[in-house]
Amino acid sequence: MPLLECRSLSRHFAGLRALDGVDLEVYPGEILGIIGPNGAGKTTLFNVICGVLRPTAGEVLLEGRPIHGLRPSQIAQLGIGRTFQISRVFKAMTARENVLMALGRGAYRSAWAALTRRPGPAERRRAEELLEKVGLLPYADQPAGELSLGLQRRLELARALAPSPRILMLDEPVAGLTRGEAETFIALIRHLHREGLTVLLIEHNLHVTMQLSQRLVVLSHGRKIAEGTPAEVRANPAVIAAYLGDDEEVAG
Ligand SMILES: Nc1ncnc2c1ncn2[C@@H]1O[C@H](COP(=O)(O)OP(=O)(O)O)[C@@H](O)[C@H]1O
Ligand SMILES: [Mg+2]
Repeated sequence: MPLLECRSLSRHFAGLRALDGVDLEVYPGEILGIIGPNGAGKTTLFNVICGVLRPTAGEVLLEGRPIHGLRPSQIAQLGIGRTFQISRVFKAMTARENVLMALGRGAYRSAWAALTRRPGPAERRRAEELLEKVGLLPYADQPAGELSLGLQRRLELARALAPSPRILMLDEPVAGLTRGEAETFIALIRHLHREGLTVLLIEHNLHVTMQLSQRLVVLSHGRKIAEGTPAEVRANPAVIAAYLGDDEEVAG
Protein backbone atom coordinates (compact mmCIF):
# COMPACT_ATOMS: atom_id res chain seq x y z
CA MET A 1 0.00 0.00 0.00
CA PRO A 2 1.31 3.50 -0.76
CA LEU A 3 2.20 5.53 2.31
CA LEU A 4 0.77 8.63 0.67
CA GLU A 5 -1.57 8.84 -2.27
CA CYS A 6 -3.11 11.68 -4.27
CA ARG A 7 -6.18 10.81 -6.33
CA SER A 8 -7.34 13.11 -9.14
CA LEU A 9 -5.99 16.03 -7.15
CA SER A 10 -6.84 19.48 -8.47
CA ARG A 11 -6.35 23.00 -7.23
CA HIS A 12 -7.56 25.92 -9.27
CA PHE A 13 -6.84 29.62 -8.72
CA ALA A 14 -9.55 31.73 -10.39
CA GLY A 15 -9.60 29.64 -13.55
CA LEU A 16 -5.90 28.73 -13.52
CA ARG A 17 -5.46 24.99 -13.11
CA ALA A 18 -2.34 24.96 -10.94
CA LEU A 19 -3.01 21.25 -10.28
CA ASP A 20 -5.21 19.35 -12.66
CA GLY A 21 -6.24 15.79 -11.81
CA VAL A 22 -2.93 14.51 -10.49
CA ASP A 23 -2.64 10.85 -9.40
CA LEU A 24 0.43 10.09 -7.34
CA GLU A 25 1.63 7.35 -5.03
CA VAL A 26 4.50 7.58 -2.57
CA TYR A 27 5.79 4.22 -1.30
CA PRO A 28 7.36 3.70 2.11
CA GLY A 29 11.12 4.22 2.10
CA GLU A 30 11.49 5.79 -1.33
CA ILE A 31 12.83 9.13 -2.46
CA LEU A 32 10.32 10.37 -5.00
CA GLY A 33 11.38 13.38 -7.05
CA ILE A 34 8.80 15.85 -8.35
CA ILE A 35 10.14 17.77 -11.30
CA GLY A 36 8.70 20.12 -13.89
CA PRO A 37 9.30 23.60 -15.30
CA ASN A 38 8.60 26.73 -13.23
CA GLY A 39 4.86 27.14 -12.64
CA ALA A 40 4.18 23.42 -13.19
CA GLY A 41 2.33 23.14 -9.86
CA LYS A 42 4.99 21.50 -7.70
CA THR A 43 4.74 23.85 -4.72
CA THR A 44 0.95 23.86 -5.00
CA LEU A 45 1.04 20.07 -4.75
CA PHE A 46 3.00 20.31 -1.48
CA ASN A 47 0.67 23.01 -0.15
CA VAL A 48 -2.36 20.84 -0.83
CA ILE A 49 -0.77 17.73 0.70
CA CYS A 50 0.24 19.51 3.90
CA GLY A 51 -3.09 21.28 4.28
CA VAL A 52 -2.02 24.87 3.60
CA LEU A 53 -4.35 24.83 0.57
CA ARG A 54 -7.59 22.92 0.17
CA PRO A 55 -7.95 20.89 -3.01
CA THR A 56 -10.56 22.06 -5.51
CA ALA A 57 -11.22 18.38 -6.20
CA GLY A 58 -9.67 15.02 -5.44
CA GLU A 59 -8.27 13.31 -2.38
CA VAL A 60 -5.08 12.97 -0.36
CA LEU A 61 -4.74 9.70 1.56
CA LEU A 62 -2.20 8.80 4.22
CA GLU A 63 -2.06 5.01 4.63
CA GLY A 64 -5.47 4.86 2.97
CA ARG A 65 -7.11 7.44 5.22
CA PRO A 66 -8.23 10.80 3.80
CA ILE A 67 -6.32 13.77 5.22
CA HIS A 68 -7.44 16.58 2.87
CA GLY A 69 -9.52 19.08 4.82
CA LEU A 70 -7.46 18.62 7.98
CA ARG A 71 -5.54 21.59 9.36
CA PRO A 72 -1.79 21.83 8.62
CA SER A 73 -0.99 21.22 12.32
CA GLN A 74 -3.09 18.03 12.31
CA ILE A 75 -1.41 16.80 9.13
CA ALA A 76 2.02 17.54 10.63
CA GLN A 77 1.11 15.47 13.68
CA LEU A 78 0.08 12.56 11.45
CA GLY A 79 3.68 12.42 10.22
CA ILE A 80 4.11 14.69 7.21
CA GLY A 81 6.87 17.27 7.57
CA ARG A 82 8.00 19.86 5.07
CA THR A 83 10.44 22.63 4.31
CA PHE A 84 9.54 25.71 2.32
CA GLN A 85 10.91 27.08 -0.94
CA ILE A 86 11.46 30.38 0.88
CA SER A 87 13.14 29.76 4.21
CA ARG A 88 10.93 30.31 7.24
CA VAL A 89 13.37 30.25 10.13
CA PHE A 90 12.92 32.96 12.78
CA LYS A 91 15.97 35.07 12.13
CA ALA A 92 16.11 36.90 15.47
CA MET A 93 15.96 33.65 17.44
CA THR A 94 18.95 31.37 17.93
CA ALA A 95 19.18 28.07 16.09
CA ARG A 96 18.39 26.29 19.36
CA GLU A 97 15.32 28.46 20.02
CA ASN A 98 14.08 27.80 16.49
CA VAL A 99 14.23 24.04 17.08
CA LEU A 100 12.72 24.29 20.58
CA MET A 101 9.86 26.26 19.13
CA ALA A 102 9.25 23.62 16.48
CA LEU A 103 9.31 20.94 19.21
CA GLY A 104 6.74 22.92 21.19
CA ARG A 105 4.39 23.30 18.26
CA GLY A 106 2.90 19.85 18.66
CA ALA A 107 2.18 20.30 22.35
CA TYR A 108 0.96 23.90 22.39
CA ARG A 109 -2.02 25.51 20.80
CA SER A 110 -0.38 28.57 19.33
CA ALA A 111 2.98 29.79 18.18
CA TRP A 112 2.83 32.29 21.05
CA ALA A 113 2.32 29.52 23.62
CA ALA A 114 5.21 27.56 22.09
CA LEU A 115 7.38 30.68 22.27
CA THR A 116 6.64 31.68 25.86
CA ARG A 117 6.81 28.33 27.65
CA ARG A 118 9.87 26.95 29.41
CA PRO A 119 11.12 23.76 27.76
CA GLY A 120 11.99 20.87 30.09
CA PRO A 121 15.29 18.92 30.08
CA ALA A 122 13.96 16.16 27.78
CA GLU A 123 12.95 18.73 25.20
CA ARG A 124 16.28 20.51 25.45
CA ARG A 125 18.08 17.20 24.87
CA ARG A 126 15.88 16.44 21.89
CA ALA A 127 16.64 19.90 20.45
CA GLU A 128 20.36 19.19 20.76
CA GLU A 129 19.92 15.81 19.05
CA LEU A 130 18.17 17.50 16.13
CA LEU A 131 20.82 20.22 15.88
CA GLU A 132 23.51 17.54 15.98
CA LYS A 133 21.76 15.50 13.29
CA VAL A 134 21.97 18.40 10.83
CA GLY A 135 25.44 19.47 11.97
CA LEU A 136 24.33 22.68 13.66
CA LEU A 137 25.30 22.02 17.27
CA PRO A 138 28.35 24.34 17.02
CA TYR A 139 25.98 27.14 15.91
CA ALA A 140 23.22 26.40 18.44
CA ASP A 141 23.38 29.78 20.18
CA GLN A 142 23.84 32.00 17.14
CA PRO A 143 20.92 34.02 15.82
CA ALA A 144 19.50 32.18 12.81
CA GLY A 145 19.66 35.34 10.71
CA GLU A 146 23.45 35.40 11.07
CA LEU A 147 23.88 31.87 9.68
CA SER A 148 24.78 31.28 6.03
CA LEU A 149 21.95 30.21 3.72
CA GLY A 150 23.28 26.65 3.75
CA LEU A 151 23.11 26.53 7.55
CA GLN A 152 19.65 28.15 7.57
CA ARG A 153 18.41 25.41 5.25
CA ARG A 154 19.78 22.81 7.64
CA LEU A 155 18.07 24.60 10.51
CA GLU A 156 14.83 24.48 8.62
CA LEU A 157 15.38 20.77 8.12
CA ALA A 158 15.91 20.29 11.87
CA ARG A 159 12.61 22.12 12.47
CA ALA A 160 10.81 19.92 9.96
CA LEU A 161 12.22 16.82 11.70
CA ALA A 162 11.06 17.98 15.15
CA PRO A 163 7.71 16.15 15.11
CA SER A 164 9.50 12.97 13.85
CA PRO A 165 7.76 12.82 10.47
CA ARG A 166 7.50 9.63 8.42
CA ILE A 167 7.37 11.59 5.18
CA LEU A 168 9.53 14.61 4.58
CA MET A 169 8.66 17.00 1.76
CA LEU A 170 11.51 19.23 0.61
CA ASP A 171 10.76 22.16 -1.71
CA GLU A 172 13.88 23.09 -3.69
CA PRO A 173 16.19 22.51 -0.71
CA VAL A 174 19.45 23.30 -2.53
CA ALA A 175 18.30 26.30 -4.59
CA GLY A 176 20.69 29.20 -4.06
CA LEU A 177 23.24 27.15 -2.16
CA THR A 178 26.92 26.95 -3.10
CA ARG A 179 28.07 23.66 -4.56
CA GLY A 180 29.66 22.66 -1.24
CA GLU A 181 26.54 23.55 0.76
CA ALA A 182 24.38 21.63 -1.71
CA GLU A 183 26.60 18.55 -1.43
CA THR A 184 26.38 18.62 2.37
CA PHE A 185 22.60 18.93 2.18
CA ILE A 186 22.30 16.06 -0.31
CA ALA A 187 24.43 13.84 1.94
CA LEU A 188 22.10 14.73 4.80
CA ILE A 189 19.02 13.73 2.78
CA ARG A 190 20.67 10.42 1.88
CA HIS A 191 21.47 9.81 5.55
CA LEU A 192 17.88 10.50 6.66
CA HIS A 193 16.62 8.24 3.90
CA ARG A 194 18.90 5.42 5.06
CA GLU A 195 17.46 5.87 8.54
CA GLY A 196 14.03 5.06 7.11
CA LEU A 197 12.53 8.40 6.17
CA THR A 198 10.36 8.57 3.06
CA VAL A 199 11.22 11.67 1.03
CA LEU A 200 9.26 13.73 -1.45
CA LEU A 201 11.68 16.07 -3.18
CA ILE A 202 10.95 19.03 -5.40
CA GLU A 203 14.07 20.25 -7.09
CA HIS A 204 14.47 22.44 -10.12
CA ASN A 205 18.03 21.22 -10.54
CA LEU A 206 17.47 18.05 -12.55
CA HIS A 207 20.97 16.78 -11.99
CA VAL A 208 20.40 16.73 -8.21
CA THR A 209 16.93 15.18 -8.46
CA MET A 210 17.99 12.45 -10.84
CA GLN A 211 20.95 11.64 -8.64
CA LEU A 212 18.87 11.31 -5.47
CA SER A 213 15.51 9.92 -6.56
CA GLN A 214 14.65 6.32 -7.28
CA ARG A 215 11.52 7.44 -9.07
CA LEU A 216 10.36 10.67 -10.63
CA VAL A 217 7.01 12.27 -11.34
CA VAL A 218 6.98 15.03 -13.93
CA LEU A 219 4.43 17.85 -13.76
CA SER A 220 3.72 20.37 -16.49
CA HIS A 221 0.90 22.93 -16.41
CA GLY A 222 -0.65 21.17 -13.42
CA ARG A 223 -0.75 17.74 -15.04
CA LYS A 224 1.35 14.64 -14.55
CA ILE A 225 2.99 14.08 -17.92
CA ALA A 226 5.42 11.29 -17.04
CA GLU A 227 6.54 8.99 -14.28
CA GLY A 228 9.32 6.44 -13.95
CA THR A 229 12.97 5.88 -13.16
CA PRO A 230 15.35 8.76 -13.87
CA ALA A 231 16.56 6.95 -17.02
CA GLU A 232 13.00 6.45 -18.30
CA VAL A 233 12.05 10.04 -17.62
CA ARG A 234 15.19 11.42 -19.26
CA ALA A 235 14.37 9.55 -22.44
CA ASN A 236 10.70 10.57 -22.49
CA PRO A 237 9.92 12.93 -25.41
CA ALA A 238 7.05 14.60 -23.50
CA VAL A 239 9.45 15.55 -20.73
CA ILE A 240 12.04 16.92 -23.12
CA ALA A 241 9.31 18.97 -24.84
CA ALA A 242 8.05 20.34 -21.50
CA TYR A 243 11.53 21.56 -20.63
CA LEU A 244 12.25 23.15 -24.01
CA GLY A 245 12.14 26.89 -23.67
CA ASP A 246 12.84 26.54 -19.98
CA ASP A 247 16.20 27.81 -18.74
CA GLU A 248 17.50 24.35 -18.02
CA GLU A 249 17.92 21.26 -20.09
CA VAL A 250 17.18 17.69 -19.09
CA ALA A 251 20.61 17.17 -17.62
CA GLY A 252 22.29 13.86 -17.12
N1 LIG B 1 -1.85 31.45 -4.18
C1 LIG B 1 -1.89 31.51 -5.51
N2 LIG B 1 -2.77 32.31 -6.15
C2 LIG B 1 -2.83 32.35 -7.50
N3 LIG B 1 -2.04 31.62 -8.32
C3 LIG B 1 -1.13 30.82 -7.75
C4 LIG B 1 -1.00 30.71 -6.33
N4 LIG B 1 -0.01 29.80 -6.06
C5 LIG B 1 0.44 29.38 -7.24
N5 LIG B 1 -0.22 29.97 -8.26
C6 LIG B 1 0.00 29.73 -9.69
O1 LIG B 1 -0.13 28.34 -9.89
C7 LIG B 1 0.84 27.89 -10.84
C8 LIG B 1 1.71 26.82 -10.20
O2 LIG B 1 2.54 27.45 -9.24
P1 LIG B 1 3.54 26.62 -8.33
O3 LIG B 1 2.81 25.49 -7.70
O4 LIG B 1 4.19 27.60 -7.41
O5 LIG B 1 4.57 26.07 -9.42
P2 LIG B 1 6.05 25.46 -9.25
O6 LIG B 1 6.30 25.27 -7.79
O7 LIG B 1 6.02 24.20 -10.03
O8 LIG B 1 6.99 26.45 -9.86
C9 LIG B 1 1.61 29.11 -11.29
O9 LIG B 1 1.03 29.58 -12.49
C10 LIG B 1 1.39 30.09 -10.15
O10 LIG B 1 1.48 31.43 -10.61
MG1 LIG C 1 7.75 26.00 -6.49
